[in-house]
Amino acid sequence: MKALVLAGGKGTRLRPLTHTSAKQLVPVANKPVLYYGLEAIRDAGITNVGVIVGETAAEVRDAIGDGSAFGMEVTYIPQESPLGLAHCVLIARDFLGDEPFVMYLGDNFLVGGISDLVDAFGAGGHDAQILLTRVAEPQFYGVAELGPSGEIIGLEEKPARPRSDLAIVGVYSFSPAVHDAVRAIEPSARGELEITDAIQWLIRNGYSVQSHMVTGYWRDTGRLQDMLECNRIVLEPIERDVRGTVDAMSEITGRVVIEPGAVVDNSILRGPIIVAADSKIVSSYVGPFTSIGPGCVVQNAEIEYSIVLGGSSVIGVSRIAHSLIGRNVEVSRAAGVSNTHQLMVGDHSRIQVGR
Ligand code: TTP
Repeated sequence: MKALVLAGGKGTRLRPLTHTSAKQLVPVANKPVLYYGLEAIRDAGITNVGVIVGETAAEVRDAIGDGSAFGMEVTYIPQESPLGLAHCVLIARDFLGDEPFVMYLGDNFLVGGISDLVDAFGAGGHDAQILLTRVAEPQFYGVAELGPSGEIIGLEEKPARPRSDLAIVGVYSFSPAVHDAVRAIEPSARGELEITDAIQWLIRNGYSVQSHMVTGYWRDTGRLQDMLECNRIVLEPIERDVRGTVDAMSEITGRVVIEPGAVVDNSILRGPIIVAADSKIVSSYVGPFTSIGPGCVVQNAEIEYSIVLGGSSVIGVSRIAHSLIGRNVEVSRAAGVSNTHQLMVGDHSRIQVGR
């Protein structure tokens, strides 16, 4: 069994971060989303992995290398532009050969690994296995309709009137039959080769397409609130591990990880929190479910339920919450008149100011 990991795409929903970096590399609890997926693949016993890369190829290659750090062998497959999930299968034909494979969307976050679904696919003798989970608002997802023995009889993309509450999770298993499907379909109205069309093709042509229910937590990290929610889920069970320097004036409560080289002075930290190496928290409050990346400064500030990427500073500002702050960002207090917001913000940024 091989794996095909999709790490190209546009990432429009996470702009402006995705103008300069890959959305699959945005960190959850200070570790790129993509690493969680690669670890799940490796833990399922799959070591031969193809990675689809687009505009951010250089950054993804830097982050994964030859795969040996993950105990796997990685082959990079460049995609000239994001022409769809089925297009990824099409261009990976030589890499995949005639082996069955798992296709894993690099921005998906699945707690509990993929070993059970890989085993189920190995034992089932089906041509495709689609992972499903129950969701409250199926109209925002790809939705599956099932037959009596759990076989998939239809798929719909973001249906106005969903036929079930079963959303498609971004991890699929395929036999080599899918190669005929991706060659047979035409681009959709949005100009992409859709994997749902390829699966419908398999169903229409008499192939067996089975469902597999996800029992653990799943999120597509395409939007800000999903990233923050994944960050919460990963931080929730962490264990307290304070190896940085904390002065006597500081108060640290709960499950807090402070990496070596980080400094906490005169501050209140309420876990779960992770503070990466070489960051400084000075005269500040850091509240639950916050990840502070390496080399950051939080000074005379309050922040909670947020992700701050490496090299950024938050100085003299209260209170930041539900926020995703990119790399080397400066957030500080405007000089002069109070109640003034002074901004220099990149394209496609989103700023929500309080009163
Ligand atoms: P999507 O989230 O469907 O698309 P996107 O990354 O372009 O994001 P947005 O909707 O915010 O613009 O993609 C799912 C995953 O598959 C993601 O990790 C990117 C990857 N992908 C490719 O590698 N190639 C492609 O052609 C497409 C469409 C996605």
